[in-house]
Amino acid sequence: MLDFQELWRCLADLDLESWREHLQPLIVERLQDDAHGDFGRWRQTLGELQAVGTGDPQRLRRLLLSLAPWRKGPFDIAGIRIDAEWRSDIKWKRLRSRIAPLQDRAVLDVGCGNGYYALQMHAAGARAVIGIDPTLLYVLQFLAVEHFLPAASVFVLPLRLHELPRPAHAFDTTFSMGVLYHQRSPLEHLRQLRQTLRPGGQLVIETIFMPGEESCACTPTGRYARMRNVWLLPTIRELTTWLLRSGFRDVEIVDQSVTTTEEQRSTEWMTFESLREALNPDDPERTVEGWPAPRRVVAVANAP
Ligand SMILES: C[S@@+](CC[C@H](N)C(=O)[O-])C[C@H]1O[C@@H](n2cnc3c(N)ncnc32)[C@H](O)[C@@H]1O
Repeated sequence: MLDFQELWRCLADLDLESWREHLQPLIVERLQDDAHGDFGRWRQTLGELQAVGTGDPQRLRRLLLSLAPWRKGPFDIAGIRIDAEWRSDIKWKRLRSRIAPLQDRAVLDVGCGNGYYALQMHAAGARAVIGIDPTLLYVLQFLAVEHFLPAASVFVLPLRLHELPRPAHAFDTTFSMGVLYHQRSPLEHLRQLRQTLRPGGQLVIETIFMPGEESCACTPTGRYARMRNVWLLPTIRELTTWLLRSGFRDVEIVDQSVTTTEEQRSTEWMTFESLREALNPDDPERTVEGWPAPRRVVAVANAP
């Protein structure tokens, strides 16, 4: 399923051959049929999809749809547009010119989802992109997409950040987008991100933030915008402090935006509830739980 030889070659190119011994058993264990109730079905779909190729677009479309929900996209595959929940192209457009150029850089994308951004990073000239995400469906979606849009030295591995050997000090740019607020311990996440970077390497971090000038963070008592698993939402000043206390330098806020129902919405490829249902219908500046509606900040910072 995953081309291990290519992966080891790529890691060797990044001076990370020592990772092989540690990662191989982890990845093999994760990609077993009993790893998830639906994994066998997804794996079978992937096989069929690769066999069908572009020869039968209607069947290909049905197979791609059976790997739903597609959260990140869009992708265009043989005339089929995967119109995912997120218009991830909008976020990419917001930040791509505000970060260090990716040409020839070794990139780590933590919480990469189905690899939408990893493929954009490759298109922007990155030498290699290692994406990691523990959600197996997203790994399978990447393998499906990558079959039709092949990209050398781009990988999506079923791993969490803390499972990578540390310190690596190997990557020129590390991305963590939409991941920080899912961490119980955001400072630990930032510390681990710093350890992935070579001296002078750049972190690109994107997170939901709370409005306000003060330095503080909110912890939702239950859900936030219907999301479970949201822990700490900092103000921008607090995020800056977290980055500095985690050892980063030259923190710069490069974008702030309010998430819109144009950017995040239900589609045929993600039929569950989306942002619209998470906002108070009488006051869309509030979530249904009464919190400020999601707004996102992108910060860049350098490792010393
Ligand atoms: C909100 S999505 C963001 C996806 C993408 N980066 C984006 O910006 O659209 C968060 C992703 O982070 C992944 N994730 C959560 N904790 C993680 C961790 N500790 N290490 C790696 N990925 C993680 C989840 O599986 C999920 O796919």
